[in-house]
Amino acid sequence: MIPEIRKATPSDVTGIAEIYNEAILTTDASFDVEPKTIEEQERWFEEHGSKNPILVAEINGRVVGWASLSQWSNRCAYSNTAEISLYIKDGFRNRGIGKKLMRIILAEGEKVGLHTIITRITSGNIISVNLHKQFGFENVGVMKEVGKKFGKLLDVCIMQKIYKSGE
Ligand SMILES: CC(C)(COP(=O)(O)OP(=O)(O)OC[C@H]1O[C@@H](n2cnc3c(N)ncnc32)[C@H](O)[C@@H]1OP(=O)(O)O)[C@@H](O)C(=O)NCCC(=O)NCCS
Repeated sequence: MIPEIRKATPSDVTGIAEIYNEAILTTDASFDVEPKTIEEQERWFEEHGSKNPILVAEINGRVVGWASLSQWSNRCAYSNTAEISLYIKDGFRNRGIGKKLMRIILAEGEKVGLHTIITRITSGNIISVNLHKQFGFENVGVMKEVGKKFGKLLDVCIMQKIYKSGE
C-alpha cells in the first residue's frame, strides 16, 4: 500500500494523538510519559502556523504516520530553526513511510524559508539516527543522562540539518 502524504487538518488530530500516545507508552523515543489528551493535541496543532508544517501519511483513509516541524524556540532570532518529529504507527514501520514523510516535510521546510532543522534522538534509536543521516542530518552532540524512562537513564543525541550553510 502506498501512503498518501498530505498536510494535516484539524480532523487528523485524533489519528495523530493515537500514534503519538502509542509511542509515549511503548517507546523511549518521546520523553513524554503520560498520553496526550485530545485538547492538548489540538493546542499543539494550533501552535503550528504556516512556517511550521504538519504532514500525515494516510492509507485507506487512516492516518498511519505524521511528521511536524515545530518552532524550536519563541525567541525571535531562532525563527528559521525548527525541530522535526516523526512517528509511524506500530505495524506500519519499516515500510518506507518514515522516509517518504521525511523527504516531503524537509522540502516543505525549505519552501517556507526555514534555515536549519534540529532533532533530538534518544541514544540507541538506530533506525531514527540512520533515517536522519540519510537526509543530511549530522551529529552535533550528546546530552548525557537527561532523561529517565522505564527505569533507565537516557542520553539524547542532537542532530542537525542546514539547508544552505552560510545563506
Ligand atoms: C523511526 C521511524 C520514524 C522510522 O520510520 P519507518 O517508516 O519505520 O522507517 P523507513 O521504513 O522509512 O526506513 C527509513 C530508514 O530507517 C533506517 N532503518 C529502518 N529499519 C532499520 C533497522 N532495522 N536498522 C537500522 N536502520 C533501519 C534505514 O536507514 C531506512 O532507510 P533504508 O530503507 O533506505 O535503509 C519509525 O520507525 C517510528 O515511528 N519509530 C518509533 C518512534 C520514533 O522512534 N520516532 C523518531 C523519534 S526521533
